[in-house]
Amino acid sequence: MKRFLLPYLICPACLPREHLLDALVESEADGDILTGQLSCPRCRRRFPVRDGVANLLPDPDSTPSGGQWRYEEGGMADRYLWSHYAELCGAVANGAANEAWEGLLAGGHGPSLDAGCAVGRLTFAMAGRSDWAVGCDLSTVFIKAARRLARERQITFSLPLEGDLVENFSVSLPQGWRSDNIEFVVADALRLPFARDTFRQAASLNLLDRVAYPLAHLYEMNRVARSEGASFLFASPFSWTASASPEERWLGGKSSGDYPGRGAENVRSLLQGRGGVIAPPWRIAASGCVEWRMRSHSNHHELISSQYLLASR
Ligand SMILES: C[S@@+](CC[C@H](N)C(=O)[O-])C[C@H]1O[C@@H](n2cnc3c(N)ncnc32)[C@H](O)[C@@H]1O
Repeated sequence: MKRFLLPYLICPACLPREHLLDALVESEADGDILTGQLSCPRCRRRFPVRDGVANLLPDPDSTPSGGQWRYEEGGMADRYLWSHYAELCGAVANGAANEAWEGLLAGGHGPSLDAGCAVGRLTFAMAGRSDWAVGCDLSTVFIKAARRLARERQITFSLPLEGDLVENFSVSLPQGWRSDNIEFVVADALRLPFARDTFRQAASLNLLDRVAYPLAHLYEMNRVARSEGASFLFASPFSWTASASPEERWLGGKSSGDYPGRGAENVRSLLQGRGGVIAPPWRIAASGCVEWRMRSHSNHHELISSQYLLASR
Protein backbone atom coordinates (compact mmCIF):
# COMPACT_ATOMS: atom_id res chain seq x y z
CA MET A 1 0.00 0.00 0.00
CA LYS A 2 1.46 3.28 -1.05
CA ARG A 3 2.44 5.62 1.75
CA PHE A 4 0.55 8.61 0.37
CA LEU A 5 -2.69 7.00 1.59
CA LEU A 6 -1.63 6.78 5.27
CA PRO A 7 -2.69 10.27 6.49
CA TYR A 8 -6.26 9.66 5.28
CA LEU A 9 -6.94 6.21 6.78
CA ILE A 10 -9.24 5.77 9.75
CA CYS A 11 -10.43 2.73 11.65
CA PRO A 12 -13.50 1.27 9.89
CA ALA A 13 -14.48 -0.62 13.05
CA CYS A 14 -14.76 2.51 15.21
CA LEU A 15 -17.08 4.43 12.87
CA PRO A 16 -18.87 6.81 13.34
CA ARG A 17 -15.91 7.89 15.49
CA GLU A 18 -12.88 8.51 13.31
CA HIS A 19 -9.48 7.44 14.60
CA LEU A 20 -6.46 7.73 12.34
CA LEU A 21 -4.54 4.47 11.92
CA ASP A 22 -0.92 3.91 12.99
CA ALA A 23 1.42 2.05 10.67
CA LEU A 24 3.98 -0.59 11.56
CA VAL A 25 6.05 -1.21 8.45
CA GLU A 26 8.01 -4.45 8.08
CA SER A 27 9.07 -4.11 4.46
CA GLU A 28 8.72 -1.34 1.92
CA ALA A 29 9.91 -0.60 -1.62
CA ASP A 30 9.74 2.82 -3.28
CA GLY A 31 7.06 4.17 -0.95
CA ASP A 32 4.99 0.99 -1.26
CA ILE A 33 4.42 -0.77 2.07
CA LEU A 34 4.68 -4.47 1.20
CA THR A 35 4.32 -6.06 4.62
CA GLY A 36 3.14 -4.52 7.85
CA GLN A 37 0.18 -3.65 9.98
CA LEU A 38 -2.12 -0.70 10.37
CA SER A 39 -3.65 -0.45 13.80
CA CYS A 40 -6.27 1.58 15.58
CA PRO A 41 -4.92 3.40 18.65
CA ARG A 42 -8.40 3.26 20.23
CA CYS A 43 -9.87 -0.23 19.63
CA ARG A 44 -6.45 -1.84 18.98
CA ARG A 45 -7.78 -3.68 15.93
CA ARG A 46 -5.09 -4.58 13.41
CA PHE A 47 -5.38 -4.39 9.64
CA PRO A 48 -2.73 -6.41 7.80
CA VAL A 49 -0.77 -5.36 4.72
CA ARG A 50 0.38 -8.47 2.86
CA ASP A 51 2.06 -8.54 -0.54
CA GLY A 52 1.29 -4.83 -0.68
CA VAL A 53 -2.46 -5.35 -0.25
CA ALA A 54 -4.01 -3.53 2.72
CA ASN A 55 -7.04 -5.24 4.21
CA LEU A 56 -9.12 -2.47 5.79
CA LEU A 57 -12.31 -4.43 6.42
CA PRO A 58 -13.85 -3.78 9.87
CA ASP A 59 -13.12 -7.46 10.54
CA PRO A 60 -10.12 -8.36 8.35
CA ASP A 61 -10.70 -12.09 9.00
CA SER A 62 -14.25 -12.09 7.68
CA THR A 63 -15.14 -14.22 4.65
CA PRO A 64 -17.42 -13.15 1.76
CA SER A 65 -21.13 -13.31 2.58
CA GLY A 66 -24.42 -12.54 0.80
CA GLY A 67 -24.04 -12.23 -2.98
CA GLN A 68 -20.30 -11.42 -2.74
CA TRP A 69 -19.33 -15.07 -3.34
CA ARG A 70 -20.16 -14.49 -7.05
CA TYR A 71 -17.23 -12.10 -7.38
CA GLU A 72 -14.84 -14.53 -5.72
CA GLU A 73 -15.59 -17.34 -8.20
CA GLY A 74 -12.82 -18.49 -10.55
CA GLY A 75 -12.81 -16.51 -13.80
CA MET A 76 -14.71 -13.50 -12.45
CA ALA A 77 -11.59 -11.30 -12.27
CA ASP A 78 -10.91 -12.16 -15.93
CA ARG A 79 -14.47 -11.23 -16.87
CA TYR A 80 -14.04 -7.83 -15.19
CA LEU A 81 -10.62 -7.35 -16.79
CA TRP A 82 -12.32 -7.87 -20.14
CA SER A 83 -15.15 -5.50 -19.22
CA HIS A 84 -12.74 -2.77 -18.08
CA TYR A 85 -9.77 -3.10 -20.43
CA ALA A 86 -10.35 -5.38 -23.46
CA GLU A 87 -10.79 -2.44 -25.84
CA LEU A 88 -7.20 -1.43 -25.04
CA CYS A 89 -6.02 -4.53 -26.92
CA GLY A 90 -8.29 -3.97 -29.89
CA ALA A 91 -11.26 -6.10 -28.82
CA VAL A 92 -14.79 -4.88 -29.39
CA ALA A 93 -15.71 -4.50 -25.76
CA ASN A 94 -16.83 -1.63 -23.54
CA GLY A 95 -14.89 1.20 -25.21
CA ALA A 96 -17.94 3.43 -25.58
CA ALA A 97 -19.06 2.85 -21.99
CA ASN A 98 -15.58 3.56 -20.60
CA GLU A 99 -15.40 6.73 -22.65
CA ALA A 100 -18.81 7.79 -21.33
CA TRP A 101 -17.80 7.26 -17.68
CA GLU A 102 -14.53 9.14 -18.20
CA GLY A 103 -16.39 12.02 -19.83
CA LEU A 104 -18.42 12.40 -16.63
CA LEU A 105 -15.37 12.85 -14.40
CA ALA A 106 -14.47 16.34 -13.27
CA GLY A 107 -10.82 17.36 -13.46
CA GLY A 108 -9.05 19.37 -10.76
CA HIS A 109 -6.99 19.21 -7.59
CA GLY A 110 -7.78 16.86 -4.73
CA PRO A 111 -8.15 13.13 -4.17
CA SER A 112 -10.62 10.71 -5.79
CA LEU A 113 -12.37 7.56 -4.57
CA ASP A 114 -13.78 4.73 -6.70
CA ALA A 115 -15.95 2.54 -4.42
CA GLY A 116 -16.49 -1.04 -5.61
CA CYS A 117 -13.72 -0.48 -8.15
CA ALA A 118 -13.39 -4.16 -9.18
CA VAL A 119 -10.20 -4.23 -11.32
CA GLY A 120 -9.90 -0.47 -11.42
CA ARG A 121 -10.65 1.02 -14.83
CA LEU A 122 -12.46 4.09 -13.49
CA THR A 123 -9.83 4.50 -10.75
CA PHE A 124 -7.13 4.90 -13.44
CA ALA A 125 -9.29 7.48 -15.20
CA MET A 126 -9.68 9.34 -11.88
CA ALA A 127 -5.93 9.20 -11.20
CA GLY A 128 -5.34 10.98 -14.51
CA ARG A 129 -7.66 13.80 -13.47
CA SER A 130 -6.82 14.35 -9.79
CA ASP A 131 -3.95 14.51 -7.29
CA TRP A 132 -4.36 10.85 -6.42
CA ALA A 133 -7.00 8.14 -6.61
CA VAL A 134 -7.90 5.14 -4.52
CA GLY A 135 -10.11 2.24 -5.50
CA CYS A 136 -11.64 -0.02 -2.88
CA ASP A 137 -13.40 -3.34 -3.21
CA LEU A 138 -14.41 -6.27 -1.01
CA SER A 139 -12.68 -8.71 -3.35
CA THR A 140 -9.00 -9.37 -2.61
CA VAL A 141 -8.67 -11.11 -6.00
CA PHE A 142 -9.85 -7.96 -7.82
CA ILE A 143 -7.63 -5.68 -5.75
CA LYS A 144 -4.58 -7.87 -6.41
CA ALA A 145 -5.26 -7.76 -10.18
CA ALA A 146 -5.68 -3.96 -10.11
CA ARG A 147 -2.48 -3.51 -8.11
CA ARG A 148 -0.57 -5.79 -10.47
CA LEU A 149 -1.76 -3.74 -13.43
CA ALA A 150 -0.67 -0.51 -11.70
CA ARG A 151 2.74 -1.97 -10.83
CA GLU A 152 3.58 -3.84 -14.04
CA ARG A 153 1.48 -1.70 -16.40
CA GLN A 154 0.36 -4.80 -18.23
CA ILE A 155 -1.72 -7.86 -17.53
CA THR A 156 -2.80 -10.99 -19.36
CA PHE A 157 -6.01 -12.90 -18.91
CA SER A 158 -8.18 -15.37 -20.77
CA LEU A 159 -11.87 -15.98 -21.29
CA PRO A 160 -13.77 -18.85 -22.88
CA LEU A 161 -13.94 -18.54 -26.65
CA GLU A 162 -16.36 -21.41 -27.14
CA GLY A 163 -16.64 -24.66 -25.18
CA ASP A 164 -13.14 -25.61 -23.98
CA LEU A 165 -11.39 -23.15 -26.31
CA VAL A 166 -10.00 -20.02 -24.69
CA GLU A 167 -9.08 -16.60 -25.99
CA ASN A 168 -6.07 -14.82 -24.48
CA PHE A 169 -5.88 -11.08 -23.92
CA SER A 170 -2.84 -8.99 -23.13
CA VAL A 171 -3.48 -5.43 -21.98
CA SER A 172 -0.90 -2.67 -21.57
CA LEU A 173 -1.71 0.65 -19.98
CA PRO A 174 -1.44 3.51 -22.49
CA GLN A 175 1.67 5.66 -21.97
CA GLY A 176 -0.13 8.71 -20.65
CA TRP A 177 -1.94 6.81 -17.87
CA ARG A 178 -0.55 7.50 -14.39
CA SER A 179 0.11 4.64 -12.03
CA ASP A 180 2.28 6.48 -9.47
CA ASN A 181 -0.67 8.27 -7.80
CA ILE A 182 -3.07 5.32 -7.62
CA GLU A 183 -3.77 2.72 -4.96
CA PHE A 184 -6.23 -0.12 -4.44
CA VAL A 185 -7.30 -1.44 -1.03
CA VAL A 186 -9.65 -4.09 0.28
CA ALA A 187 -12.40 -2.17 2.07
CA ASP A 188 -16.14 -2.20 2.65
CA ALA A 189 -18.18 0.52 0.95
CA LEU A 190 -20.52 0.39 3.96
CA ARG A 191 -17.72 1.34 6.40
CA LEU A 192 -15.15 3.24 4.39
CA PRO A 193 -11.72 3.54 6.06
CA PHE A 194 -11.33 7.19 5.07
CA ALA A 195 -11.77 10.37 7.04
CA ARG A 196 -14.82 12.54 6.41
CA ASP A 197 -14.58 15.43 3.96
CA THR A 198 -11.63 13.85 2.11
CA PHE A 199 -12.58 13.35 -1.54
CA ARG A 200 -13.12 16.01 -4.16
CA GLN A 201 -14.41 13.35 -6.51
CA ALA A 202 -16.22 10.17 -5.55
CA ALA A 203 -17.75 7.44 -7.67
CA SER A 204 -19.96 4.46 -7.04
CA LEU A 205 -20.57 2.55 -10.28
CA ASN A 206 -22.84 -0.46 -10.27
CA LEU A 207 -22.47 -1.09 -6.56
CA LEU A 208 -25.63 0.13 -4.79
CA ASP A 209 -27.70 -2.96 -5.64
CA ARG A 210 -24.85 -5.30 -4.59
CA VAL A 211 -24.41 -4.08 -1.01
CA ALA A 212 -26.23 -5.35 2.07
CA TYR A 213 -27.38 -1.88 3.13
CA PRO A 214 -27.84 0.49 0.17
CA LEU A 215 -28.76 3.54 2.25
CA ALA A 216 -25.66 3.06 4.43
CA HIS A 217 -23.55 3.04 1.27
CA LEU A 218 -24.94 6.41 0.12
CA TYR A 219 -24.42 7.77 3.63
CA GLU A 220 -20.78 6.62 3.61
CA MET A 221 -20.06 8.09 0.18
CA ASN A 222 -21.55 11.35 1.39
CA ARG A 223 -19.44 11.28 4.59
CA VAL A 224 -16.12 10.91 2.82
CA ALA A 225 -16.92 13.36 -0.02
CA ARG A 226 -16.03 16.99 0.60
CA SER A 227 -18.91 19.08 1.86
CA GLU A 228 -17.98 21.80 -0.63
CA GLY A 229 -16.36 21.61 -4.06
CA ALA A 230 -17.08 17.91 -4.59
CA SER A 231 -18.54 15.81 -7.38
CA PHE A 232 -20.17 12.42 -7.10
CA LEU A 233 -20.69 10.06 -10.03
CA PHE A 234 -23.31 7.49 -9.11
CA ALA A 235 -24.65 4.74 -11.39
CA SER A 236 -26.64 1.58 -11.01
CA PRO A 237 -28.72 -0.82 -13.10
CA PHE A 238 -30.88 -1.19 -9.96
CA SER A 239 -30.84 -4.99 -10.21
CA TRP A 240 -32.25 -5.42 -6.73
CA THR A 241 -31.93 -8.93 -5.34
CA ALA A 242 -32.63 -10.45 -1.95
CA SER A 243 -29.28 -12.28 -2.11
CA ALA A 244 -27.55 -8.88 -1.76
CA SER A 245 -29.92 -7.08 0.62
CA PRO A 246 -33.35 -7.77 2.14
CA GLU A 247 -36.20 -6.16 0.20
CA GLU A 248 -37.07 -3.75 3.01
CA ARG A 249 -33.65 -2.09 2.49
CA TRP A 250 -33.94 -1.63 -1.27
CA LEU A 251 -34.09 1.99 -2.34
CA GLY A 252 -36.63 1.23 -5.09
CA GLY A 253 -38.04 -1.59 -7.17
CA LYS A 254 -41.05 -2.14 -4.92
CA SER A 255 -44.54 -0.68 -4.62
CA SER A 256 -44.74 -0.17 -0.85
CA GLY A 257 -42.63 0.33 2.26
CA ASP A 258 -39.81 2.86 2.51
CA TYR A 259 -38.56 4.11 -0.88
CA PRO A 260 -41.26 2.69 -3.21
CA GLY A 261 -41.00 3.29 -6.98
CA ARG A 262 -37.91 3.62 -9.13
CA GLY A 263 -34.41 3.55 -7.63
CA ALA A 264 -33.04 6.37 -9.79
CA GLU A 265 -35.75 8.77 -8.57
CA ASN A 266 -35.28 7.78 -4.93
CA VAL A 267 -31.49 8.14 -5.06
CA ARG A 268 -31.88 11.50 -6.79
CA SER A 269 -34.17 12.84 -4.07
CA LEU A 270 -32.01 11.38 -1.28
CA LEU A 271 -28.95 13.14 -2.74
CA GLN A 272 -30.97 16.34 -3.02
CA GLY A 273 -31.56 16.16 0.73
CA ARG A 274 -34.89 14.36 1.12
CA GLY A 275 -35.43 13.33 4.73
CA GLY A 276 -32.16 14.96 5.77
CA VAL A 277 -30.21 11.65 5.52
CA ILE A 278 -27.68 13.13 3.11
CA ALA A 279 -26.30 16.54 4.03
CA PRO A 280 -25.23 18.99 2.78
CA PRO A 281 -27.50 18.29 -0.21
CA TRP A 282 -26.17 17.70 -3.71
CA ARG A 283 -27.25 19.36 -6.95
CA ILE A 284 -27.87 16.96 -9.85
CA ALA A 285 -25.83 18.33 -12.77
CA ALA A 286 -26.56 15.54 -15.27
CA SER A 287 -28.32 12.21 -15.54
CA GLY A 288 -28.65 9.52 -18.18
CA CYS A 289 -27.90 5.95 -19.05
CA VAL A 290 -24.74 4.03 -20.06
CA GLU A 291 -24.86 0.54 -21.58
CA TRP A 292 -22.01 -1.89 -20.95
CA ARG A 293 -21.41 -5.58 -21.41
CA MET A 294 -20.05 -8.58 -19.55
CA ARG A 295 -18.78 -11.45 -21.67
CA SER A 296 -19.32 -15.18 -20.88
CA HIS A 297 -17.89 -16.48 -24.15
CA SER A 298 -17.35 -14.99 -27.59
CA ASN A 299 -21.00 -15.47 -28.61
CA HIS A 300 -22.62 -14.68 -25.29
CA HIS A 301 -22.73 -11.25 -23.66
CA GLU A 302 -24.90 -9.74 -20.97
CA LEU A 303 -26.01 -6.17 -21.74
CA ILE A 304 -26.42 -3.96 -18.67
CA SER A 305 -27.99 -0.55 -18.71
CA SER A 306 -26.83 1.66 -15.84
CA GLN A 307 -28.63 4.84 -14.93
CA TYR A 308 -26.30 7.53 -13.73
CA LEU A 309 -26.53 10.73 -11.72
CA LEU A 310 -23.73 13.25 -11.71
CA ALA A 311 -24.00 15.30 -8.55
CA SER A 312 -22.03 18.25 -7.26
CA ARG A 313 -22.00 20.57 -4.25
C1 LIG B 1 -21.21 -5.01 -10.35
S1 LIG B 1 -19.53 -4.85 -9.85
C2 LIG B 1 -19.13 -3.24 -10.44
C3 LIG B 1 -17.66 -3.01 -10.55
C4 LIG B 1 -17.24 -1.68 -11.16
N1 LIG B 1 -17.60 -0.55 -10.33
C5 LIG B 1 -17.85 -1.53 -12.52
O1 LIG B 1 -18.79 -0.73 -12.68
O2 LIG B 1 -17.42 -2.23 -13.44
C6 LIG B 1 -19.69 -4.59 -8.10
C7 LIG B 1 -18.35 -4.55 -7.38
O3 LIG B 1 -18.57 -4.12 -6.04
C8 LIG B 1 -17.83 -4.95 -5.17
N2 LIG B 1 -18.53 -4.92 -3.88
C9 LIG B 1 -19.69 -5.52 -3.53
N3 LIG B 1 -20.05 -5.19 -2.28
C10 LIG B 1 -19.09 -4.32 -1.83
C11 LIG B 1 -18.88 -3.63 -0.61
N4 LIG B 1 -19.74 -3.73 0.42
N5 LIG B 1 -17.79 -2.85 -0.50
C12 LIG B 1 -16.89 -2.75 -1.52
N6 LIG B 1 -17.04 -3.38 -2.69
C13 LIG B 1 -18.12 -4.17 -2.85
C14 LIG B 1 -17.75 -6.30 -5.85
O4 LIG B 1 -16.66 -7.07 -5.39
C15 LIG B 1 -17.61 -5.87 -7.31
O5 LIG B 1 -16.28 -5.65 -7.64
